[in-house]
Amino acid sequence: MNLLVVGGGGREHAIIKKLKENPQAETIYALPGNGGIAADAVCVPEIGAKDIGKIVDFAKSHSIDFAVVAPDDPLALGCVDRLHEAGIPCFGPDAKAARIEASKVFSKNLMKKYGIPTARYEVFDDPAKALAYLRTASFPIVVKADGLALGKGVLIPQNLQEAEAAVKTIMEDRAFGDSGNEIVVEEFLTGPEVSVLAFTDGTAIAPMVSSMDHKRAGEGDTGLNTGGMGTIAPNPCYTPQVAAECMENIFLPTLAAMRAEGCPFKGCLYFGLMLTPDGPKVIEYNCRFGDPETQVVLPLLKTDLLTVMQAVENETLGDLKVEWHGGAAACVILASGGYPGHYEKGKAISLPAAFPENVTVYHAGDKLAEDGTLVTSGGRVLGVTAVGDALEAALKDAYAAAEEIGFEGKYLRRDIGKRALAAMEG
Ligand code: AMP
Ligand code: GLY
Repeated sequence: MNLLVVGGGGREHAIIKKLKENPQAETIYALPGNGGIAADAVCVPEIGAKDIGKIVDFAKSHSIDFAVVAPDDPLALGCVDRLHEAGIPCFGPDAKAARIEASKVFSKNLMKKYGIPTARYEVFDDPAKALAYLRTASFPIVVKADGLALGKGVLIPQNLQEAEAAVKTIMEDRAFGDSGNEIVVEEFLTGPEVSVLAFTDGTAIAPMVSSMDHKRAGEGDTGLNTGGMGTIAPNPCYTPQVAAECMENIFLPTLAAMRAEGCPFKGCLYFGLMLTPDGPKVIEYNCRFGDPETQVVLPLLKTDLLTVMQAVENETLGDLKVEWHGGAAACVILASGGYPGHYEKGKAISLPAAFPENVTVYHAGDKLAEDGTLVTSGGRVLGVTAVGDALEAALKDAYAAAEEIGFEGKYLRRDIGKRALAAMEG
């Protein structure tokens, strides 16, 4: 089979490595892919993840048997709709279903209408009305741009002054463009955060192993928000009781709500949950695999990934038993110094000839220089994942491997998994 994966980050690398395990997978194309992915797939750097027309033309001319659309932008732009129109089976939600991530107003209204637990909120399209509301609010409070904003559209003002600045940034300075035409102002919730990715064909659901992201740039969860500096799986806060509660109150009601709204969700649905004193609540939905959650979750998948994705596409997921390995996984992100602010690119990357069998390096932000060597090209450069019988061992091996990799300005958080280990002891 000829396979195509749209995207070019660490998440796509993890998907490609897993797809490769299927003996039926002949050629895997990555659009655009990246320097490190080139070792596992045929990369097409000329075609970006948002070039929907070119992606569809490429899929037709290269006899693609199955496509996976991984990033949020092409999903929201209808890449899956266009591929389906061209008769190409693929994994991912259509544009209508992708609104669950692409519009926070849509997802919040969906949760309210169908009684799915989430933070209380108000929606504003007029900055003056938003400010009038904020003058009566208690702090901290959460201000979110409606649309996609590279994970940066969430601000948590601690006082009225910061709230006024947040409204100005999003609605008047338009820091996130049209994504800020509307804002959601919502109640600040507290509790441990859990990411749960789930395969779903619209009706049946197979939640993946739970995980924990580390979104802030600095140790001890300080500094700016990033795309994610590391992940661990499973998340120790996500006990079987919590999982059962989420299935009944959140997962199944969400799928039913999407069906009732005429936009059944097929693909990977990502539940960003907070385990509040009042029970689990939805912080956000994503219409795709998380990054870097995928880099710890997929290594623990026992069932063949392509088989699962085909079952989602064919709406036969209910007939398939999706199985997982025991043990744990940890991923440490190696970033360019300065990320998520300004950073330099083009730094030579040195990698050891081989890693232990339980270690995999996923390439996120690198490219091949003219002489064929790898150089940095993004903020998050590599994700070093190790699997082990227990989290402590996985973390030890991921950090040991991370030490073996060098590039100028390499930055990593040294405390990935620390909170999870503390939660396991507590
Ligand atoms: P999001 O981009 O929606 O994932 O939000 C980014 C981060 O902001 C989340 O991972 C949370 O840590 C935090 N956050 C978002 N919404 C809330 C909320 N209602 N209460 C507390 N923290 C929140
Ligand atoms: N790691 C968070 C996300 O993928 O949105």
